[in-house]
Amino acid sequence: MRKKIIAANYKMNLTVNMAEEFVESIKSSINRDDIDVVICPNNTCLDRISNVLDGTNISLGAQNVYFETQGAYTGETSVDMIYSVGCDYAIVGHSERRQMFNETNEIINKKVKKIIEKDMNAILCVGETLEERESNKLYTVISNQIVECLKDIDSANIDKNLVIAYEPIWAIGTGVTATVAQAEDMCKFIRDEISKLYNESVSSKLRIQYGGSVNPSNAKEILTMPNIDGALVGGASIKNDFVAIVNYD
Ligand code: PGA
Repeated sequence: MRKKIIAANYKMNLTVNMAEEFVESIKSSINRDDIDVVICPNNTCLDRISNVLDGTNISLGAQNVYFETQGAYTGETSVDMIYSVGCDYAIVGHSERRQMFNETNEIINKKVKKIIEKDMNAILCVGETLEERESNKLYTVISNQIVECLKDIDSANIDKNLVIAYEPIWAIGTGVTATVAQAEDMCKFIRDEISKLYNESVSSKLRIQYGGSVNPSNAKEILTMPNIDGALVGGASIKNDFVAIVNYD
């Protein structure tokens, strides 16, 4: 039985004081021991939110990280740095980073490796555009993303240090959710791809999230599908809606 994992991606929202006040106000209601809950606020908030989460089962994650260890990389943040402020997770390959900041599968692969090297957990985002879906390229696109982003990564690290988030780009922040059948179909496809790349034992343990306009009214339907093991929540994660999503059952 795979443990569900629900992650909050605050994106570039909430200043430190706002994030602290918000997380403080909801933390007891999202503190479950049967579900892994991960809060990914802006980097400026990590240290303070880490203190707020002290003594809870809730984990902390960064929304991005750089693959170099240290040096002249102005504006970037290393894995050691996010680890030092209490992160266990980092989101990598979010479509906003792929589209706005030109992140390629090759760059994302380096980031995943660096996170694994530190024995932290990567939440690797994959997803297709509407055009790719409509022109029936979606399976090829997702398959390439998986193969390239996981290049040279050992099977032992797949179920241990990796979560994959399937996020159709057309469903992110648009209010349009993929139908549950579409979401399940793609999460199943991802699991089968992992099985082909590695083996069934690894793929059966890998946790796969769905992300894209998850809200309190669709959470239960999504989170009870056989191949969907959690959600990556954007817009609804900075509202009390997140409490309802985590308590979907
Ligand atoms: P959304 O974002 O829930 O606002 O659609 C999801 C995400 O970008 O991870």
